[in-house]
Amino acid sequence: MIYMDYCATTPMDPLVLEAMLPYFTRHFGNAASRHHALGWEAGAAVDQARQQVAGLMGARAEEFVFTSGATEAINLAIKGVWETYRHKGNHVITTRVEHKAVLDSCDWVRRRGGRVTYLDVDRNGLVDLDQLADAIDADTILVSIMWANNETGVIQPMDIIGQLCAEKGVLLMSDATQALGKIPVYPELTGVQLLACSAHKMYGPKGVGGLYVQKRRPTIKLAAQLHGGGHEHGMRSGTLNVPGIVGLGQAAELAAGTFAETAQQLELWRNTLESGLLEQLPEVYVNGGAAPRLPHVSNLAFRFVDGAGLLARLNRTVALSSGSACTSGSLDPSHVLLGMGVGPNVAKSSLRLSLGRYNTEAELGTVTKAVIAAVDQLRSVSPLWAMHQDGQDLDALGWGR
Ligand SMILES: Cc1ncc(COP(=O)(O)O)c(C=O)c1O
Repeated sequence: MIYMDYCATTPMDPLVLEAMLPYFTRHFGNAASRHHALGWEAGAAVDQARQQVAGLMGARAEEFVFTSGATEAINLAIKGVWETYRHKGNHVITTRVEHKAVLDSCDWVRRRGGRVTYLDVDRNGLVDLDQLADAIDADTILVSIMWANNETGVIQPMDIIGQLCAEKGVLLMSDATQALGKIPVYPELTGVQLLACSAHKMYGPKGVGGLYVQKRRPTIKLAAQLHGGGHEHGMRSGTLNVPGIVGLGQAAELAAGTFAETAQQLELWRNTLESGLLEQLPEVYVNGGAAPRLPHVSNLAFRFVDGAGLLARLNRTVALSSGSACTSGSLDPSHVLLGMGVGPNVAKSSLRLSLGRYNTEAELGTVTKAVIAAVDQLRSVSPLWAMHQDGQDLDALGWGR
């Protein structure tokens, strides 16, 4: 089985596992235990991991709060800002193409009387910057825009967005779950005050991640969403997951040293895959292909082919997905592709290939051949494909889009 679903999750790097193992058994202390060496050891490991993650994003250790993953970090950021700053205003801005963790947290805000503006994206998945500038008003307390999209890999112009939010004096949060450790992500330089990330997207363990919370000029205050022992400066109570945190730290350090080289290699392979498929199959399009994209991600529409059928034909050869793993059980077309103006049928015919560190060049050929064979086979029994081949305008009939 070839794995090309690295956006869903990554296998753990053996070096990460090695770093974690002693913290399950020998160094099992509670990082909050202040009266014995086992607690101190665990506390020191957490301190080191905090420095490692902060280092990856050019932040200070005290600016990073550990959580159970990006979902929790995003909930903490959006709900925490809302509860802390709603006396200043009741308006939150986000985009239509965010991960469900952001969309559902914004929905939570709406249910509490907040106003949420959902920005459109263009055909390539990029935020409309004029619409963003127009949307910010005196009541806006938070803008939440993802760094890179989990379905298409499209990277938003965070520098410009950061500048705009700074000029208007509103907080900017970014879901950088797919971007951190893959491309340069420096929140302070970019003007991002809150940034969510997750270990299992960068060769670390599942169930751990965190939130960068700017500490200077100004210090951002967040209302806790988990209450209890007051861990993480009161922002996130609960005994720290020391082995997981050690794993996140190690994964961050490894990423800091390798991501530029890895990105170069994966971009080359991703482009090889795309050009192989585009050259050998008609009616294939790269969703978001004209925008800046994460180097390892490709979202391809195979028109006149049902994406679910295609996945079923391929799943013994290659692990792929139709988009987000969280919504992969759903038969609805992707909200990200619909948000980009892709028609529902084309959205349903789209697949995401995401490459990673453990792919090999030989796998590219195998996957290209398998996809071509599966698409050819599905089209050979598709009445819509036959009609298209006969020159009928299916778009005019409303079936092609
Ligand atoms: C863009 C994005 N945000 C948030 C998440 C949620 O991350 P986690 O699995 O750490 O909760 C994911 C993971 O699927 C993601 O891709």
